[in-house]
Amino acid sequence: MVLLHGNDYCDKFSAEIFLKDFWGSLSDLNIFLISNAYVFLNNERLTGHRLLDFGCSPNLLGEIIAPERFTDIVMADLSPSNLDIIRRWMDGQKINFKWDHMLKFAAESCVMQMCQSGLKRKIAHLKTSVKKLVNCDAKKELPLGPDYVEAFDVVFTSFCLGSAAKSVAEYKQFLKNVASLLPSGGHLVMCGALNQMAYIVDNKRFHHLKLSMSDVKDALCNAQFEILEYEFECITLPESEPPEYSVFVLLAIKV
Ligand SMILES: C[S@@+](CC[C@H](N)C(=O)[O-])C[C@H]1O[C@@H](n2cnc3c(N)ncnc32)[C@H](O)[C@@H]1O
Repeated sequence: MVLLHGNDYCDKFSAEIFLKDFWGSLSDLNIFLISNAYVFLNNERLTGHRLLDFGCSPNLLGEIIAPERFTDIVMADLSPSNLDIIRRWMDGQKINFKWDHMLKFAAESCVMQMCQSGLKRKIAHLKTSVKKLVNCDAKKELPLGPDYVEAFDVVFTSFCLGSAAKSVAEYKQFLKNVASLLPSGGHLVMCGALNQMAYIVDNKRFHHLKLSMSDVKDALCNAQFEILEYEFECITLPESEPPEYSVFVLLAIKV
């Protein structure tokens, strides 16, 4: 089966099937990712209200788990069709996915039971906090384009750079490009996969760079980040090649 990559995300990535297969349930993997990313994004060291979700796909994970003081959120992805799903959802159009289980789980993580009216209020807040949906490309030195001059307080990125890079050298460079969007003292919360080489969405195979934790640590150091905390877990997922691999979530500061 051909291995898809890069611009294939614009026309061959079935965004709604991706959401259903990878984020449609509270699997052990998703509980690990959501709860650790939640803890890191809510860490008291993080300051400011400007958050970038880099390589967001049609997924609202970062926005759901970010504390409500992030009122200036930019969601960015290579694929306009991924952003279109978010745009349609923001406009109140029907899409083939509900985030309620993730919203409720995130609420429970902060010891707040989410009743139906709480859920509606959170969704309304989330829709006003996401200020822009923009195209991005991790390959570019200025990944949001030359006109984007604002810096962010926090960058959240989840399973993007390992999908984008074809070599460890590229991974290092792409992380450096994304790091340019943070000032010194800004924070990065990153989720990713180790030892994964591909993943399947709608019977199509998408490339993932085989990475070790030391590749990730080197890349962070090279991009002037200091790791503050990280967690990883071994998991099994039939949609992954190989099915057994590891995932990590980390918090880093740009020095
Ligand atoms: C595996 S999906 C992960 C999406 C989402 N963040 C999540 O955790 O569910 C990888 C995402 O990276 C995006 N992507 C791939 N190459 C990219 C690049 N060069 N620059 C920016 N985004 C890219 C794809 O469009 C896709 O949405």
